[in-house]
Amino acid sequence: MASIVGRATKQALLRTKPSLSSQQASFVSLHGKTGRRLAWTLGSLALTGGAVVATALAQPTFASDLVLHPPHYPWSNNGLLQAFDHASIRRGYQVYKQVCAACHSMKFLCYRNLVNVIMSEEEAKAEAEEALIEDGPDEEGNMFQRPGKLSDRFPNPYKNEEHARSANNGALPPDLSYIVPARHGGADYIFSLLTGYTDAPAGVKLMDGQYFNPYFPGYAIGMAQALYNDLIEYDDGTPATQSQLAKDVSTFLAWAAEPEHDSRKLIGLRTLIILSLFLGVAYYMKRHKWTTLKSRKLAFKPPSDK
Ligand code: HEC
Repeated sequence: MASIVGRATKQALLRTKPSLSSQQASFVSLHGKTGRRLAWTLGSLALTGGAVVATALAQPTFASDLVLHPPHYPWSNNGLLQAFDHASIRRGYQVYKQVCAACHSMKFLCYRNLVNVIMSEEEAKAEAEEALIEDGPDEEGNMFQRPGKLSDRFPNPYKNEEHARSANNGALPPDLSYIVPARHGGADYIFSLLTGYTDAPAGVKLMDGQYFNPYFPGYAIGMAQALYNDLIEYDDGTPATQSQLAKDVSTFLAWAAEPEHDSRKLIGLRTLIILSLFLGVAYYMKRHKWTTLKSRKLAFKPPSDK
C-alpha cells in the first residue's frame, strides 16, 4: 500500500516538474501570456507602492503634531444622560471672576445667564451692579459709566485688542465664552493647560514673557501660570487646590459654551421615553395593516386545455 502511494507521489512530482520550469522560463523572459500578466501585476504593484510612499511624504508635519495630547478626564457630564456638576459651575464662576476676568473677556455671557444656574435673580442683579458698564452717548454726546444690569454682557478687561496685547507682551488673551468647543480636547485641554506648567527642559529657549507648557501647541505660551493652591477661598468651603480650581473653571467654561446642555439631554431622554411608548402601538399597527398582504397566497394555475 505504502509503495503504491510512494510511486504515485513520485510520478506526480515528475509530472509537475516540466510545467514549473516552463513557467520560470516565461517569467524570466516575460514572454507569453503568463509573462505579460506578471509584468502587469508587478508594474501596477510598483505604481501603487510609489503612490502610497508619495502620499505619505506629501503629508506636512504640523507643529501641533508635536504637542502633548490631554488625557480624558471623568467629567460629570460625560455620557449620554449625564448633567453638569452645578456646584462646580458655581465655584468655577468664582475662579473666573477672581482670577481669569483680569485678562480674559467673556463677551457672549450676560449677567442674566447666571440666574438660576449660579445665583438667584437678586444676587445676579447685585452682581451686575458691582460692574461699571460704559454706556452712552448722553445728551451731550459723551460716553458715561453706569452700574450694570441683568441684560449687560460681562465687561471686557481691556479697551480694545491693542490694549490687551500691550498689557500681555504682545499675546492676545482669547475671549473665553466658547473656548471649550474651540480647542481640540475641550475641557480636558483647558484643565491640562492650567495644571500643566513646568520648567522648560534643557535646550528649549523661551522669549521674555513666555512660559513652558507642554499642552500648548508650540510649548511657549504667553500666559503665566494662573492657578496655585489656595489662590482664592471658595464660598462653599471646598479646599481650593490648584487642580480643584482648574477643574471648576473648566466646568464653568464648558457650561458657558453650552448652557442648554442639561435641558437638551433631559428633552432627549423624555423624547426617547415617549417614543418608546409608541413603539408597541406602531408594531401592532404594522402587523394589522400588513396581515392581509402577508397571509395572501398567490397560486399559479396553468391554463387547462379543456
Ligand atoms: C495675566 C493675564 C492672564 C490671566 C490672569 C489668565 N490668562 Fe489665560 N491667557 C492670557 C494670555 C496673554 C493668553 C494668550 C497666550 C498665547 O497666545 O500665547 C491666554 C490664553 C489662554 C487660553 C488659550 C490657550 C490656547 O490654546 O490658545 C486659555 C484657555 C486661557 N488663557 C485660560 C485662562 C483661564 C481659565 C484663566 C483663569 C484661571 C486665565 N486664562 C487667566 C493671559 C491671562
